[in-house]
Amino acid sequence: MKEIALNNKLFEIYLTEEEIQTRIRMLSHEINEYYDDKYDEPVHIIVMMNGAFLFAADIVRQLDFPLHMYFVKSSSYEGLQSSGKVNFDLPEDLEIKNKHVLVLEDIVDTGRTFQVFLDEIVKDKPKDLKICSLLVKHKNQEIMQKIDFAGFMIDDPFVIGYGMDYNGKARDLKDIYMLKTN
Ligand code: IMP
Ligand code: MG
Repeated sequence: MKEIALNNKLFEIYLTEEEIQTRIRMLSHEINEYYDDKYDEPVHIIVMMNGAFLFAADIVRQLDFPLHMYFVKSSSYEGLQSSGKVNFDLPEDLEIKNKHVLVLEDIVDTGRTFQVFLDEIVKDKPKDLKICSLLVKHKNQEIMQKIDFAGFMIDDPFVIGYGMDYNGKARDLKDIYMLKTN
């Protein structure tokens, strides 16, 4: 069992690079199918930084329709806990009125970040708004149902790797690791 230690915490392998990439291929097929009859104009993709940078890089290269990309920096986590406050840096050129919009997230945990974000961007009246998250923690059924394209439903413990960090560390790992709870 592959394990890594970070700041005196032990993490064990949870999803391998191969499992992640296989699932991303399947997700990209679903997304391509969904937009198949809709792209008379580019789909506007919003990547939730920093966590979703690798996921977005891998999945957009498998999408076969024209797209326009925006990067939004959000943060609500301090260490292993959600701080409760959500902050966003919206790009100045964000122009989604009457557009097809697809939001790419790394992980939806409490759902607070993406709910605050969605409440904000629906004000700009996109034509259609879909959410794709690589990981969804399945403790919150109500939130789960709002995710249109979900990679993996996962348990509660904190995860790192493949874009996701623990206080800035581990974003570069190819696999995803979960905090060992015993
Ligand atoms: P939420 O607002 O609780 O849904 O969490 C939103 C953001 O916190 C996610 O987009 C991640 O960037 C980060 N986050 C939540 N859970 C984890 C985790 O287990 N590992 C690393 N980052 C996480
Ligand atoms: Mg995130």
